[in-house]
Amino acid sequence: MTPPRKLHIKSYGCQMNVYDAQRMADTLAPEGYVETASVEDADLVILNTCHIREKASEKVYSELGRLRAAKDQAARDGRGMSVVVAGCVAQAEGEEIIRRAPVVDVVVGPQSYHHLPQLLLRAKTDGRALETEFPIADKFGFLPQPSRQAIRSRGISAFVTVQEGCDKFCTFCVVPYTRGAEASRPVAKIIEDVERLAGNGVREITLIGQNVNAYHGDGPDGQPWPFGKLLYRLAEIPGIVRLRYSTSHPRDVEDSLIDAHRDLDALMPFVHLPVQSGSDRILAAMNRRHTADDYRRVIDRFRHVRPDIAFSSDFIVGFPGETEEDFAATLALVDQIGYAAAYSFKYSPRPGTPAAEMQETVSTADMDERLVRLQNLIDSQQSAFNRTALGKTVDVLFDRAGRKPGQIAGRTPYLQPAHVNASDAIIGQVLPVTMASLERYSLFGTLASMPAFRAQLNDAAPAGAQFQTTAGV
Ligand code: 5AD
Ligand code: SF4
Repeated sequence: MTPPRKLHIKSYGCQMNVYDAQRMADTLAPEGYVETASVEDADLVILNTCHIREKASEKVYSELGRLRAAKDQAARDGRGMSVVVAGCVAQAEGEEIIRRAPVVDVVVGPQSYHHLPQLLLRAKTDGRALETEFPIADKFGFLPQPSRQAIRSRGISAFVTVQEGCDKFCTFCVVPYTRGAEASRPVAKIIEDVERLAGNGVREITLIGQNVNAYHGDGPDGQPWPFGKLLYRLAEIPGIVRLRYSTSHPRDVEDSLIDAHRDLDALMPFVHLPVQSGSDRILAAMNRRHTADDYRRVIDRFRHVRPDIAFSSDFIVGFPGETEEDFAATLALVDQIGYAAAYSFKYSPRPGTPAAEMQETVSTADMDERLVRLQNLIDSQQSAFNRTALGKTVDVLFDRAGRKPGQIAGRTPYLQPAHVNASDAIIGQVLPVTMASLERYSLFGTLASMPAFRAQLNDAAPAGAQFQTTAGV
């Protein structure tokens, strides 16, 4: 028997890339590839790149410089090492990577991962291979299902892509160019994936897409299904105790999604809903096609049906034309909404986007200063939010061994890490935990005895009211 070939995938960026990395591993498994954590002994290294971050392509070229040394060493040891560049930088740079980095054997865009085995073969005969087309056929139809063993080794929480691409064209963003037009997978395919995952022990599913709530895949009834309807159907699948989704857009929050939050216990009350700025002038320049008030109204619709819901967001500071007054509007919005978490970024131009043509007006020093002020505010909201869990009994889905011996770790509905001392038999279960302490972002507690927990449920005022995001902020 030939020994297995070793595959190392280094993934950057969003959850979609984590998911794609798993699909690439599944595509290469029938070719005899098994994953390794080390670059040095890999026969095949895939850089699964992200184009969202600043200087993304320069970072890829310096990583490729390091890989050249590893490839040379492998050659000296008498074995080959192939190097693949995948992901959004591959899509955006294409030929340029082949030209600038001789170490690379294959460049493959996100829509073509199902062709990886053929591309590797082509590279063997032709020296290099490149594929960055947007094929008409749905790549998901061609990607193999993960094996039972692969599902089990990936744990009880899994991502499932339901749509890819974006038609929104925010002026700062590369996604519409690297991931292409919005495309939704058919409902039946998603059900099939989730049933298979659930049958192999997965308990939590995060539905992912660049604009996940723009979902409108074909339903079994021949009609396009809105995102909320998909959630209702997936919540019926036995074994799935938690459903999440990311990333959503404020313009695509349909009533079916709000209803799903009202009706589905499995749908977690924690929503990532990026707003980017609190200033209408800047939102217009970003082509977000919503105002700050539109966003507030969307938040209100969620809160109306789930008072315990919490939100996270993305913000960009220093967008071209952002004045101190515009930035103050962002701080005011954050203050008003009260976030459980948020990511904030300094604006940086992405080649090929409309904003890259705009005159930059905010100095680096001002951008730094605004970023610090925003992050301080968000941090204080996050700490206050985390503190509201103390003394409360909260459901935790246990998914892994903790860092200390005897400790088991899991996540609250709000994705806060939570730890208890218990046997690993609880992994895969949702159990109530009484929270005793907080260290930075991690909660520590004890498993609540069931009778005590029931008593608390009986006492509780409106369900979940203890998690109000604005409490103490
Ligand atoms: N500059 C700064 N941040 C950006 N993001 C996307 N493009 C840019 C850019 N050009 C941020 C947005 C987005 C998140 C994933 O990355 O906030 O929501
Ligand atoms: Fe990019 Fe999101 Fe805007 Fe689409 S909605 S263009 S993915 S920032």
